[in-house]
Amino acid sequence: MPRYLVTGCAGFIGSTLTDSLLADGCEVLGVDAFTDYYDRPAKEEALSGARDHPSFTLLEQDLAADPLPEHALEGIDGIFHLAARPGVRASWGAGFEAYVSDNILATHAIADAAGARGLRLVFASSSSIYGDALAYPTAEDTPPSPISPYGVTKLACEHLLAAHARDSGLEHVALRYFTVYGPRQRPDMAFTRLVAALVDGTEFEIYGDGSQSRDFTFVADAVAATIAAMHEAPPGATYNVGGGSEAALRDVVALVEELAGRSLHVRYGERAAGDVKRTLADTTRIRSELGWRPRTDLRAGLSAQLDAAGALAPSTG
Ligand code: NAD
Ligand code: UGA
Repeated sequence: MPRYLVTGCAGFIGSTLTDSLLADGCEVLGVDAFTDYYDRPAKEEALSGARDHPSFTLLEQDLAADPLPEHALEGIDGIFHLAARPGVRASWGAGFEAYVSDNILATHAIADAAGARGLRLVFASSSSIYGDALAYPTAEDTPPSPISPYGVTKLACEHLLAAHARDSGLEHVALRYFTVYGPRQRPDMAFTRLVAALVDGTEFEIYGDGSQSRDFTFVADAVAATIAAMHEAPPGATYNVGGGSEAALRDVVALVEELAGRSLHVRYGERAAGDVKRTLADTTRIRSELGWRPRTDLRAGLSAQLDAAGALAPSTG
């Protein structure tokens, strides 16, 4: 039975990946520091199924502060490195220090450990490395030009892994996820806030005029790409993971209203610093090399997220 280490196992994507690996019969050692980016109870809830599973072990540890104990890597077949401080908007100002620690320092430490043991490492990178991209759809060889401090740290991590590969022979794969959504999505992200506004009858604030668009990616599709990368990707590969569901935020609001059968209170505010105008992944490479393709479109994925929050209109359920 393969045994994997999943960093960031209590997070949105990490917990979904952990559940999927366990369902496939794998053993999982999960590492998470339960950082204060958002509340611990949401992470405990996300991890509750795994915690009850006999093939899951949790190691609560800050990867940037302490090296992994030697025994932790014994019997491990590969590492999924998802731990990070995510989120574009909080990465400005004093908040940046935590991004340097949780992203750059933690990745350096896990790359050291993986390289020394000859373990494959699949890294969660981000569409934010492209910034306001130089071409759409954006292929992996488009020159990166991040416009947020967060994006800069994710690009630095990609370069750091390439440097480790030259030095120690580290086998790594970088996946550039495009705005992932679905059940367990982080509380700072747009769809979770939209759903909360619906359920609580509060206002949803759109940053800017709502014309910004994203290539939204359903979480199960992101997880499938991540597992395929561990098994199939050539060493050193980089792939876009985009859901093929580009939509403007104001069109998402309309779709949520339709699916929920209720209208939302929307307020328009300032554009957020570091927020890109548009993302759209060219996924030719991952489709042809890994045989991966997104299977859940925006309507189906949003329905699943609304349903998980009890906010889907009965007629659409
Ligand atoms: P998340 O915040 O829900 O999960 C990250 C987890 O990592 C958290 O549980 C956190 O406690 C843990 N963590 C952070 N720093 C740590 C450290 N130093 N040591 C140990 N654990 C630590 O975020 P997410 O949305 O699930 O994102 C997962 C990964 O995917 C991140 O690397 C993120 O940058 C990347 N990503 C996410 C998206 C998205 O749309 N959600 C898009 C692109 C890339
Ligand atoms: C998301 C993740 O949060 C990042 O961690 C990730 O790296 C990035 O995707 C990526 O693709 O690389 P983002 O696209 O900003 O970042 O995702 P959301 O937080 O869901 O925001 C989507 C859009 O809605 C953005 O334009 C944002 O400004 C807007 N938004 C968000 C609002 O208008 N109001 C809100 O309350 C929240």
